[in-house]
Amino acid sequence: MFSSGSREKAVAEYYKLQATEYHHKYYSKDSESDILIKPEAELLQSTFRGLDVLEIACGTGFWTGIAANSANSVLGTDVNPSMIAEAKTRLFHLPNVSFSVSDAYDLQNVPEGFTGAFAVLFWCHIPRQRIREFLTLLHRKLAPGAPVVFIDQLEDSDSQTHCTDLCGNRIAQRRACGEEFSIIKNVPDKEQLFEHLNHFAENIQYKVYSGGYWSVSCVTREHCSIL
Ligand SMILES: C[S@@+](CC[C@H](N)C(=O)[O-])C[C@H]1O[C@@H](n2cnc3c(N)ncnc32)[C@H](O)[C@@H]1O
Repeated sequence: MFSSGSREKAVAEYYKLQATEYHHKYYSKDSESDILIKPEAELLQSTFRGLDVLEIACGTGFWTGIAANSANSVLGTDVNPSMIAEAKTRLFHLPNVSFSVSDAYDLQNVPEGFTGAFAVLFWCHIPRQRIREFLTLLHRKLAPGAPVVFIDQLEDSDSQTHCTDLCGNRIAQRRACGEEFSIIKNVPDKEQLFEHLNHFAENIQYKVYSGGYWSVSCVTREHCSIL
């Protein structure tokens, strides 16, 4: 039986091994103009116009660049230095983008006072039992009234093979560089998202997109009443 901490490490390790091929594998050259991601891209750009934005788990920076089109600044953070290195190579030309290696479960070295935040394809990897802790930490880095957006996937193509652990997390089997990983791959429903976010934020809005993604957007409360 894995502890919850091992699961988070497995997620981080799985992506660490994929840093050099991740962008090429998931984002085609034309992705930024791709009709499938248009509504999600528009959501980020309209939400974060003129704001100073913290991005959690930025990976190779695909969504960082999209948000930076309208934001005043974006700080992309990721636990894997290899992902941050890829993102820096891709986005070195954007003066309003910077990066920091940081674990979403401690956010050390991340300053406070951001006026917006988002994460794409990260909520699915958060153990259910750590969502409160994650949201509480994130809240500390944000100004009151800051818009926050999470975007993630609906069902995986192999979700029928996932199993469930004792905490109710869905576990998927993945391979990278010849190694096997058991990683958390949750798909929260609207009610679960509202329940988690209600203490952290208000004006919560949930959407499902035809490309197989969901988004939730909200605005931070002055005080986070989670813990
Ligand atoms: C599915 S990828 C998403 C990357 C990017 N947001 C995107 O949509 O292309 C998940 C990302 O989460 C990062 N990650 C995993 N565990 C993390 C943690 N504890 N803190 C911060 N980032 C983490 C991985 O390195 C990887 O870049």
